[in-house]
Amino acid sequence: MSKPRLYSGMQPSADSLQIGNYIGALMQWRDLQEAYDAYFSVVDLHSLTQPYDPAELREKTRRTAAQYIAAGIEPSKSTLYVQSHVPAHPELAWILSTITGYGEAGRMTQFKDKAQRFGADATSVGLFTYPVLMAADILLYQTDIVPVGDDQKQHVELTRDLAERFNSRFGETFKVPMPVIQRDTARIFDLQNPVAKMSKSAESEAGVLWLLDEPAKNAKKIMRAVTDSEGSVRYDRESKPGVSNLLVIYAALTGRQIPSIEDEYAGRGYGDFKKGLAEVVVNEFGPVRQRALDLLDDPAELDRVLAVNAGKAEAIANRTLADVYDKVGL
Ligand code: ADP
Ligand code: NA
Repeated sequence: MSKPRLYSGMQPSADSLQIGNYIGALMQWRDLQEAYDAYFSVVDLHSLTQPYDPAELREKTRRTAAQYIAAGIEPSKSTLYVQSHVPAHPELAWILSTITGYGEAGRMTQFKDKAQRFGADATSVGLFTYPVLMAADILLYQTDIVPVGDDQKQHVELTRDLAERFNSRFGETFKVPMPVIQRDTARIFDLQNPVAKMSKSAESEAGVLWLLDEPAKNAKKIMRAVTDSEGSVRYDRESKPGVSNLLVIYAALTGRQIPSIEDEYAGRGYGDFKKGLAEVVVNEFGPVRQRALDLLDDPAELDRVLAVNAGKAEAIANRTLADVYDKVGL
């Protein structure tokens, strides 16, 4: 029996990933890569839909790939590649765009949010059709499951609708994928504003823990994280979002249950707790950071690995694309 297939990806939108990407995506991908035939993409074509600098984009793409590997995604076990290296992605996206309703695409809430943030001048047709490209990403590989954050659920629903629509109009072609929505306890919030999702595109860096930052810098940010005046280390997302967020990070990185961490810090102040967490984060990120920097020190080898993996991805993607061309009469 072959393993079920899994697809996921991330935009190369910053020099470093943040701890939310690590806990919410990379740690889970690392675990899932054993049981699944996994495809992990650095979706650089998607990054063209928001403001970017060309030279920086290429560098961010390599840095993102290096961080996937450094976090434990093994390029010999999983197919870890750069989206733009496989031309079948935009080719299938075009075909899918012709069966996507204009109104249907217009209902995507992420588009509406981004369009409002970017303003009319920076809102492109590409931003509008972004979910169609994402559907192509997923459907090209006959994907069984797509691990995503809550914010991407609507896009996976669209992907399923497009797959079913295509199949019923042109004959069985695509597998209809299932979303696997991230656990609530895997969602990390900004350390300075613990009700907003931590993001690599956050306006202020003060509340963001970067994977590739100096350990001391991350430790300092943890010591300065927003808490509350109660003084007890207790999980309560509603009334103690800051402390709860720190507990979630602590639990995710150590594999411990939150109540056991609460017990350990019972009767002790936030200072002790933050010091403990800073140690956990520094210990976890230290080796990951070093591996990423080593990989980036040898660009030729990293490029070689990415080229081999793009070849593996292309072989599967082209099979689906050839079938699609055939079915639609091209
Ligand atoms: P960002 O907001 O950092 O640019 P993306 O939206 O590109 O992140 O998401 C990349 C992946 O990282 C997704 O799988 C997403 O669910 C996960 N992710 C991003 N931010 C967080 C967070 N704060 N907590 C948990 N997971 C996150
Ligand atoms: Na994503």
